[in-house]
Amino acid sequence: MTVTAQQLREQFAAKLPEGGAPLSPEWRDAFATVAREAFVPRFFLHKPGGGMRAVDSGDEDWLSSVYSDLTLVTQLNGDDTAWDTARGNGGVTGSPTSSSSQPTLMAWMLEALDLQPWHHVLEVGTGTGYNAALLAQRLGSDHVTTIDVDPRVVEVARTRLARAGSTPTVAEADAARGYSGRAPYDRILATCSWPRIPHAWLEQARPGGLILSHLYTELDAGAMPLLRVNSDGTATGHFLGEYGAFMPRRDYQRPDTLALLQRALRSDDEPTRSLARMPSGEVTSLDFPLFAALRVPGVALHWFQPEDAPAMRTYLLCRDGSCANQELDDGQLVAVQSGPRRLWDEIDAVYAEWAALGKPTRDRFGLTVTAEAHTLWLDRPTGEHTWTLPP
Ligand SMILES: C[S@@+](CC[C@H](N)C(=O)[O-])C[C@H]1O[C@@H](n2cnc3c(N)ncnc32)[C@H](O)[C@@H]1O
Repeated sequence: MTVTAQQLREQFAAKLPEGGAPLSPEWRDAFATVAREAFVPRFFLHKPGGGMRAVDSGDEDWLSSVYSDLTLVTQLNGDDTAWDTARGNGGVTGSPTSSSSQPTLMAWMLEALDLQPWHHVLEVGTGTGYNAALLAQRLGSDHVTTIDVDPRVVEVARTRLARAGSTPTVAEADAARGYSGRAPYDRILATCSWPRIPHAWLEQARPGGLILSHLYTELDAGAMPLLRVNSDGTATGHFLGEYGAFMPRRDYQRPDTLALLQRALRSDDEPTRSLARMPSGEVTSLDFPLFAALRVPGVALHWFQPEDAPAMRTYLLCRDGSCANQELDDGQLVAVQSGPRRLWDEIDAVYAEWAALGKPTRDRFGLTVTAEAHTLWLDRPTGEHTWTLPP
């Protein structure tokens, strides 16, 4: 029996979000109605051995991939010719610069927005246009504005949205300045990641409105603050309990962790060895990385197995050349550290702090954003435990 796209769409909507409470009926209907395939006629999928292959609408696994819980990458390195190259060569490598986000993550974020029919929404990062189409399905096109920094992405999404019968405002803009043309907004939803929440968003959101974004950190914290905008122009709220991952804003250069590691391993700098307290698994657990990433900024992770090592090692790396990892020496955890900073000691210190706080889960932390600073807090914005983040 052939399964139709509509049947696949309904099954997909019924299963979202994966591993969580079912969607509210309004969002389930929207996911069951909007055809994701209209926004992703071609995309990249990861190849088992590394790199990415190009998938086209005629391919056998196209529709099943569209209605799976996969992020569908649609652009690599900002280069619109990469898909044709991958199609011709069997694959390419590169960093994703546009995509249709993972549906489970989209569903969590859309639910968290607590949308009401009269709300006006600004979406940051149009990408394929699929999320904007879902928002327009719920609220009506007049209530939705979506912006993207890439003019070609904007043009393609606008055309596909119109073909699908959806006509939100689609504009080319750098979201660092927001989009004042349609402000004020009741909700601002960012589907790319920002190291700090741009002040323009606070100015363009209505008091009482919500801002939901991913906060970019080099250490992968998956941090998504949901901020309520106050009448004094500040915003505050807890982080979602869920882990999210998004590509950083277009002009952000991620550190090349492989190059940093190679440089550190080749360096003549003799590493120091000292006892470590935090087991390395904690830096990739669900809860500690949020606290660690915000308290010890600028530290990235890389996994690598040196020839003489029995297993993969977790390396902490910084752009200034600092490098740290953990080894088991005579049954003891030893931190091996080199470069200007002692990265393992820094993480160990905040691990001890987090442990002393009772190892709070990520959703007990929150963020307050003002014109001057971002402040991390535990449980209450004005409670006992607050930490001002570096600019
Ligand atoms: C993950 S994709 C968005 C997915 C999209 N919401 C969808 O449903 O397909 C992230 C998008 O953010 C855009 N972006 C990156 N930096 C930006 C910026 N400074 N301002 C606006 N958009 C930006 C990228 O061009 C990319 O298309």
